[in-house]
This record gives sequence, structure tokens and C-alpha cells, in this order.
Amino acid sequence: MSFKEGTELKIRVKPKDDCNVFSINIGHDDENIALHFNPRFDYGGDSNVIVFNSLSGGCWGDEHREGIFPFSRGEECKFYINFNNEQFYIKLPDGSMVNFPNRLGDVKYKYFDVSGDAKIVGIKIK
Ligand code: GAL
Repeated sequence: MSFKEGTELKIRVKPKDDCNVFSINIGHDDENIALHFNPRFDYGGDSNVIVFNSLSGGCWGDEHREGIFPFSRGEECKFYINFNNEQFYIKLPDGSMVNFPNRLGDVKYKYFDVSGDAKIVGIKIK
């Protein structure tokens, strides 16, 4: 899979019934992640917060936190993600938009991963 500037990634995810945390990761490999999108139902002292970060050479950057939390355990949810060399734009399941800087600055990413307590229901790029 290759995710390029100007294309849109649509992803449907189902958090497990006992989900504490999951993440959607986009980047070059597991040590170089441009977008770590990390909804935390209950994880690391956080509840109902989305944490955003990037990982460069295995080192995390500064976290961004977002209080909008339109997810429920056990309920399928849909995200639309697109990006350019400066920003990622993420449309949340309730239609609200959040941004995160594209700190790696690239316009094509081949690494994609969903981890934690959720499963992928479907992915489309167009
Ligand atoms: C850490 C957590 C990682 C990642 C990171 C984001 O505390 O263990 O999985 O979410 O925060 O800054």
C-alpha cells in the first residue's frame, strides 16, 4: 500500500468491546511514523483523549492532544485521512476535522498499521 499526497485514505475500524487504546500509524516503518493517531479510552492515565504524535528514528516527538472523542467501544467508526507535505487532515466519525503537522515532511508513505484493541473493518485509498 502506498499513501500519497492528494489521495484520501478511508478507514473503518472497530474498537473491541473492552478497548483501552488503539492507534492508526502511517509512515515509513515502525521507527519512522509521520502520523500516530492514538485514541485512548483508558490508557496511561488518560481517558477519552486522542493523542497525536510522530516517531522519528525511534524517538517520539511532542504530543498533541485533542479532547473531541467521538468513539465508542464495540462500535465501528470511520476516518478519512489526507495529507500534504505540511499537514495531515483527519475527519473523525462525527464529521469534525483535526490536523497534525507532517513532521517527516514526505509526500508518500508506505507503512500503515493499526495496533491495539481494535480491528480493521475496511480500508480504501482513492
Ligand atoms: C507513549 C505510548 C506510545 C505512544 C506515545 C505517543 O506513552 O507508550 O504507544 O502512544 O505515548 O506520544
